Amino acid sequence: MIKRVLNQIKSLVTYDADREFYAKVFPDTLNQVELMRFRKMSKADLPRVLEIEAKGYNYPWAEGLFHDCLNAAHYDCWVGEDATDKIRAFCIVSTAVGEATVLNLCIDPVMRQQGLGRKFMQHIIDTAKAKKAESVFLEVRPSNTGAIALYESLEFNEIGIRPGYYKTENGEREDAIMMAYTII
Ligand SMILES: CC(C)(COP(=O)(O)OP(=O)(O)OC[C@H]1O[C@@H](n2cnc3c(N)ncnc32)[C@H](O)[C@@H]1OP(=O)(O)O)[C@@H](O)C(=O)NCCC(=O)NCCS
Repeated sequence: MIKRVLNQIKSLVTYDADREFYAKVFPDTLNQVELMRFRKMSKADLPRVLEIEAKGYNYPWAEGLFHDCLNAAHYDCWVGEDATDKIRAFCIVSTAVGEATVLNLCIDPVMRQQGLGRKFMQHIIDTAKAKKAESVFLEVRPSNTGAIALYESLEFNEIGIRPGYYKTENGEREDAIMMAYTII
C-alpha cells in the first residue's frame, strides 16, 4: 500500500536533476524549450490547461472531458512546465493493447514554433516505447498544416481518412487525417 502511494507521488513529479541544476546555476545557457519539464497533469492544473485549450482550438474540449481523461486508468495526461513552473503545453494519450493514441496536444501560443511541440511528441513516443506500445496514432485536420508538418517530420505516416469527422466554422464538416508512427 505504502509503495503504491509512493509510486503514485513519484509519477506526479518527474524530477530532472539536470534541469534544476542548469536553471539555477546557468540560467542563460539554455533556452525556454530546453528547460521545459514534463509531468503528469493533476486536477489542480485544469484552469491553466483549459486556458491553453481555449486558445488552441475553435472547438475546445469541455472541462468534463478532461476530468474523464484524468480519471481513466489507461490515459496519461501530461503537462509541460517552463523554468518558472508555468504550464506551457499539455498532451493527453491513451494506451491500450500495444497502441498509444494522442488525443490532444496543445502548446501555449506564445511558445509555438520554438520546438516545444516536437519535444513533447518525442516525449510521448519515448513513453509509448517504455510502455511497449508498437504504434502511436493520432488524428489531425487537413487544414492544420503546421501540426501535419510536425508529425511528418517525426516520421508519422498518413494511414487513412475519417470523412467529415470535424466541425468547421462555416457549418460544414472537415475530414480527419489518421496518422501513425511505428515503434517496432
Ligand atoms: C501544432 C502544434 C502542436 C505545433 O507545436 P509547436 O511547438 O509550434 O511546434 P514546433 O515548434 O515543435 O515545430 C516543429 C515542426 O512542426 C512544423 N510546424 C509547427 N508549426 C508550424 C506552422 N505554424 N507552420 C508550419 N510548420 C509548422 C515545422 O515543420 C516545425 O519544424 P521546424 O521548426 O524545423 O520548421 C501547435 O501549433 C499547437 O498547439 N496548435 C494548436 C493545437 C493543435 O492544433 N494541436 C494539434 C492537434 S492534431
